[in-house]
Amino acid sequence: CGIVGYAGHEQAAPFLLEGLEKLEYRGYDSAGIAVFSDKVRTVKSQGRLAVLREKVNAAGGVSGTLGIGHTRWATHGAPNDINSHPHSSMSRRITVVHNGIIENYIPLKEELQANGVVFRSETDTEVVAQLFDYLYDGDLVGTLIKVLHRIRGSYALGILCTDYPDTLLAVRKDSPMIIGLGEHENYIASDIPAVLDHTRKYYLLGDNEIALIKADSVELMDMDRKPVHHEVYTVDYDISAAEKGGYDYFMMKEIKEQPNALSTCIGSRVHDGEITLDKLRLSDERIKNIGRIHMVACGSAWHAAMVGKYVIEELTRIPVEVDLASEFRYRRPILSRNDLCITISQSGETADTLAALREAKANDVHVLSIVNAVGSSIARESDDVLYTMAGPEIAVATTKGYTTQLAVIYLIALKFAQIRQTIRPEVFQSLLADLQKLPEQLESIFADEDKIRQLAKDHQSTGTELVRNNVFIIGRGIDYGASLESSLKLKEISYVHSEAYAAGELKHGTISLIEPGTLVIAVATQDLLYEKLISNVKEVKARGAHVIAIVKEGCTDAETVADTVLYIPKTADLFTSTLTVVPMQLFAYYTAIELGCDVDKPRNLAKSVTVE
Ligand code: G6P
Repeated sequence: CGIVGYAGHEQAAPFLLEGLEKLEYRGYDSAGIAVFSDKVRTVKSQGRLAVLREKVNAAGGVSGTLGIGHTRWATHGAPNDINSHPHSSMSRRITVVHNGIIENYIPLKEELQANGVVFRSETDTEVVAQLFDYLYDGDLVGTLIKVLHRIRGSYALGILCTDYPDTLLAVRKDSPMIIGLGEHENYIASDIPAVLDHTRKYYLLGDNEIALIKADSVELMDMDRKPVHHEVYTVDYDISAAEKGGYDYFMMKEIKEQPNALSTCIGSRVHDGEITLDKLRLSDERIKNIGRIHMVACGSAWHAAMVGKYVIEELTRIPVEVDLASEFRYRRPILSRNDLCITISQSGETADTLAALREAKANDVHVLSIVNAVGSSIARESDDVLYTMAGPEIAVATTKGYTTQLAVIYLIALKFAQIRQTIRPEVFQSLLADLQKLPEQLESIFADEDKIRQLAKDHQSTGTELVRNNVFIIGRGIDYGASLESSLKLKEISYVHSEAYAAGELKHGTISLIEPGTLVIAVATQDLLYEKLISNVKEVKARGAHVIAIVKEGCTDAETVADTVLYIPKTADLFTSTLTVVPMQLFAYYTAIELGCDVDKPRNLAKSVTVE
């Protein structure tokens, strides 16, 4: 979910609607705003923000200079009008927007109901508004503190109280929130793009910190009402970085930004044949003594880790375990003090990844994070952080986020290998040279864009419904790791079911799903495994599959077995995933376009999942 808030002298509603539009990537099941003038007026609606805009216009606008807004990714209660935020208390004195989950809302709701409070929605959030009003004694901050002592879970809250017509109250715990600092106006938002048209200056609110925001002041305090002082951050990227810039969709813009993003991410850390990993606190001595690495992440970041395992183990000979963050946090992982935990997250706010990080830290394990969003919770709580420097990524399906995560993993693997002396200096130099070529090589793949667009079109226009909707992406070793990400791209944005499979495992069951016309995409870039993969291609061809092969330049013999061959430039086998994923990003994109899907905002998804 995304939240925004405004306290100033201008009309609040236009800012709230614009801000929510910029946060729609965080969820788009429903949206709503509440604006305060003589009373609080709330307009909310199921569906995209455009529907809310229409509703606001139909109501003749909502006037007032203090307000809050919300765009929802439904957790508790269906995405209908009633469950949309903002939520007000029975008396309408208190109105709340919330990102997160109130875990103990059921007993609290029952307790309030027993005391005569009548609820309107099925949401956990309404409990906050009702409880606040129930405990309210005229002291805004005092009541909030009482509420915070009663609720459990994660929250970023924006609160209006009709007794305080100029004050926006905000607090957060385990859900992101920034406070934008303007000229005679101030804002709250879940993320920077929401305020970027108005200000570049902001505070990062810490856990359990309370903000009293007015047009001309921002007061920060802790739960004991002691003042808190924060550094003012300045956004260092251009507004245009968060705009579509002529592209139909952010996803295509971000696909095309990959060469630049990679070049910044790698280029800033490689000088004169040496890698500098920022200012890592992890000493060389500790790197030499790492017993085991745990890579923990969700979604595409987990896929980056799956590739990372092959690369890090190969180069450093340190055993690597890869875990889904949602599994890691509850499976009592076996951790020792000389282990290293690498958490990976584009947003730096994913609740499961954050919890996994805390689990590792609680076990005295050093946490190194690979994060894109500067100053995010995961970045702040880690012992060390390496930023991917990809710039803002808005499309729900990640592209440059993933390829820059891979780049940082390669840098870590090479640096650790050098320190541990597990690779020869000339191998190090040759790999480093290959790494530096990746941005340009990635760019060269765009030359195939028309061909890939046609492939996506052909795939949709031929075959039965059943065959069109079932794709297999097969690979071995690193190619298997990369296939996981390629498959997810297709599923996420085109809703075509696809499955990544370790090619050698196909014959142990899943090959039964191959029928005449089934599309199999075979990724074969590993010298050691190339012949084996070609045999696997022959196996599926014999069952009638239509095969697209993705191979390294020069492997022209693939043309004799596959129906279509896409080539990627030659690089070290360890680094091919950065390139093989690109044709698949384009294939997924054009399939989604062909099927009329909303590429940037696929159904049921949100970019940043800040709930468990
Ligand atoms: C969500 C997104 C995925 C993303 C995952 C992890 O589910 O839809 O695209 O890979 O979260 O996000 P993170 O920000 O932690 O990388």
